[in-house]
Amino acid sequence: MDLLKIREQFPALNQTINGNKLVYFDNAATSLKPVSVIESISDYYSTINSNVHRASHYLSAMSTRAYEESRENIAGFINANPGEVIFTSGTTDSINTLASGLSDIILKEGDEIILTVLEHHSNIVPWVALKRDKKIVLKIVDVDDKGILKLDHLRELISDRTRIISMSHSSNVLGTINPVSEIVKFAREKGIITIIDGAQAVAHSKVNVNEIDSDFYCFSGHKMFGPMGIGVLYGKSEILEKLSPFRFGGGMIRNVSFDKVEYNCLPNRLEAGTPYVSGAVGLSKAVDFLNSLEFSEIIEYEQRLTDYATDKLKRIDGLTIMGDNTSKDPIISFNIEGIHHADLSMILDNFGIAVRSGQHCTQPLMHRFGVKGSIRMSFSIYNTEDEIDFFMEKLNLAIKMLR
Ligand SMILES: Cc1ncc(COP(=O)(O)O)c(C=O)c1O
Repeated sequence: MDLLKIREQFPALNQTINGNKLVYFDNAATSLKPVSVIESISDYYSTINSNVHRASHYLSAMSTRAYEESRENIAGFINANPGEVIFTSGTTDSINTLASGLSDIILKEGDEIILTVLEHHSNIVPWVALKRDKKIVLKIVDVDDKGILKLDHLRELISDRTRIISMSHSSNVLGTINPVSEIVKFAREKGIITIIDGAQAVAHSKVNVNEIDSDFYCFSGHKMFGPMGIGVLYGKSEILEKLSPFRFGGGMIRNVSFDKVEYNCLPNRLEAGTPYVSGAVGLSKAVDFLNSLEFSEIIEYEQRLTDYATDKLKRIDGLTIMGDNTSKDPIISFNIEGIHHADLSMILDNFGIAVRSGQHCTQPLMHRFGVKGSIRMSFSIYNTEDEIDFFMEKLNLAIKMLR
């Protein structure tokens, strides 16, 4: 992997923040974008900009083609069929579409849904809304102190009322990678529908939806080098076909009268209104970018960065890493005794270092670990050990200032 060549493709890395070269360690929130993605969006609006599916003119045909070719490329990337890839605005939108659509077709009062304590709010709040509106029951799988999911607990929680298991592929705070294939296999034997939130996993592992075998897999483009506002809801066609639409309007219908509406076939049925075509085109370019690299090399390199940083962090007095385990995405969350995470991140920002502090949209997980928040550093393929050294130097300085 040619690190210099990779870094050259990310113009955002060439800026200074507060007089220092940017060190971007906030990749779990959103990744930076390569030139190819940025240019594809500008090219789209400079040339074939036109609404899809609705006109016979040249530009509309070209725009429809670009949109559908993007779908094919993204489907290929996760080993799905194009008809099983629904464009959404992101993981949050995908999970909301599922909570609403599945509620209509399978959930009755008293039915149970299993989540984990690791979940991002976007895989909690839609289900809590259903708990209120439909009187379903939520059951929550715990993790151990290393942040590893307690599989025995998951098995204990399953009953003959369990309809859905919805869980993250990997945690946006601890980085823990969950054994999703194993859980899906187990759920399938019991006839339970599985939803995997792949928002964090998709840029750091080779996602193959056929191997994982879940009914649904959700992710966001912006965390995998694509634009913000585009994401994917993958679903097995048998169940996707039955899903009730979440949004209604143009594009998703075949026939409309004031008495009756006949919906379109997949994927259009679940994509009402003018879609985010340039976003799909940009996401397809992000897929090309990822395909130009070897995933085994990405994983190895990011693991090296994570180990390097973990090792240095552990030498700091009073520093606790949340969920310190080895099978993880390149995410490290930590706290330092006697120092508030927000103060630390503010000082680091003065040196041009972007990390996140707070609860990371995971309040239940913060409660589980008995903390109010944490500092989170998260890496991507363009980060370097030199940046980690710079971070450590400034972190030690910040600690001296705050103690
Ligand atoms: C694990 C996880 N799930 C869901 C989301 C929500 O993603 P989005 O805001 O792109 O919909 C995030 C975003 O941080 C995440 O990390």
